[in-house]
Amino acid sequence: MQPPPSAIPLTQPLREAGLQNLLTAYIIAGLLFMLLPGTFLGVWNLVSISSEHSLSSLSASWIQAHGHAQIFGWIGTFIIGIGYYSLSKMGTIAPFALSRGWLSWGLWTCGVALRWAANISLWNWRLLLPISAGAELAAFLIFFFTVSRHRSSGAHRRMEVWMMLVIASTVGFLILLVLNAAIAARLAMAAATPEFPHGIDQRLLVLATWGFPVLAVWGFNARWLPAFLGSKPASDGSLLATLILCGLGVTAALAGNFHIGAAFLIMASVTAALALNIFERAQRPPQLQGVHPAFPVFIRLCYVWLLVASLLSAWAATADRNGGIWGASRHALTVGFLAGMIFAIGPRILPAFCGGRQLFSPALMFAACSLLNLGCLLRVSSEIPAYEGLARAAWRVLPYSAVAELIAVSLFTLNLGLTLARPAAPVRDTRLYTISFSP
Ligand code: HEM
Repeated sequence: MQPPPSAIPLTQPLREAGLQNLLTAYIIAGLLFMLLPGTFLGVWNLVSISSEHSLSSLSASWIQAHGHAQIFGWIGTFIIGIGYYSLSKMGTIAPFALSRGWLSWGLWTCGVALRWAANISLWNWRLLLPISAGAELAAFLIFFFTVSRHRSSGAHRRMEVWMMLVIASTVGFLILLVLNAAIAARLAMAAATPEFPHGIDQRLLVLATWGFPVLAVWGFNARWLPAFLGSKPASDGSLLATLILCGLGVTAALAGNFHIGAAFLIMASVTAALALNIFERAQRPPQLQGVHPAFPVFIRLCYVWLLVASLLSAWAATADRNGGIWGASRHALTVGFLAGMIFAIGPRILPAFCGGRQLFSPALMFAACSLLNLGCLLRVSSEIPAYEGLARAAWRVLPYSAVAELIAVSLFTLNLGLTLARPAAPVRDTRLYTISFSP
């Protein structure tokens, strides 16, 4: 019997081109989710809240639609796409049929889009909410089983700690999707509206941030930053301690104990920065091919935001009354740390991964990263006095923070879009698609 066409091994250049096309599709979908359902809705929400001077004036369903589009639609899509590509290139997973990657892309993008539509329009939400959660879970399971099949190398290889962080992040993502599907099914059967109840949403958000994208960033940072920053290789013992502390923090928060959770997350953030030697002097010239020379500054700023986010979460656990301290902590983490990291690392790796291209403009990268940090600073510093009723004037600053972040996001998308529109390098030249990780 003939094997199915998708299982026939492709020649090396053809497979390389196929992997690049798959990654490019994930990147484009992620950018679209970030820009329209994510950021535009976020700006709209913030302007509405600022004009009413109250967070409770806005539909929780719309707020959750924004959060879901950003975390699942943007960050989740990027992580799955980069996971398929980079784990294949590093030779850590067994070769897989590319059609699987495309099937999970289709299911994933439909699932995220349906969730956004259900939350915004409420049209047939009892049907759309569980279908969306089921499609997201199915897409992720295809990814999960694909990347779990390790290449057999004959010799027994010790698992590196950066890999443990990436695996923990993948497991965190899976648990999040299972909980999301269970809650969506329950709401569809028994609730009056599609939004997740506030208490459950708060706990899930800790898993959706610290329990998966933050762990993935730490894992890939440990792998890439020694080359990109010219820093000392990460310390395995401290990285392992970071993983354990973060796991304890997320578990405590999921159990509803935000005080203890925040204490562990502060320790995890400090340990991560120390383990990765973020604030230490570089030992070799950084490998900055194609990106702006301020790259190391932007990476360090991300870790400043990480520390701010963890400290604010401890304050929020004791003193938040109107959602202002939680909101500031969450955006220090999602905008300052996660988006800041993608805005810095994305231009370094994605042009190379998506066809050996050159970044369109390092100057645009600098503008996007600077505006993102400025917007985040305005947001985090004014959200607490505004929402918590400490200074009315702070309400006037919030819309400016939204505009700064919106311009930043648009410049980042434009830069990556123009980069992807450039011709790819000849597919034979596989050197261009890999990144040298050796110090
Ligand atoms: C232009 C940038 C952004 C704006 C204007 C914005 C605005 C908002 C607003 C107004 C809220 C409601 C709660 C609050 O006021 O704190 C919110 C919640 C949230 N945002 Fe953003 N945001 C932005 C970027 C991001 C990014 C980049 C992420 C993630 C990568 C993100 C993730 C979230 C999450 C998870 C929530 C909580 C949703 C929930 O309660 O379930 N936001 N955002």
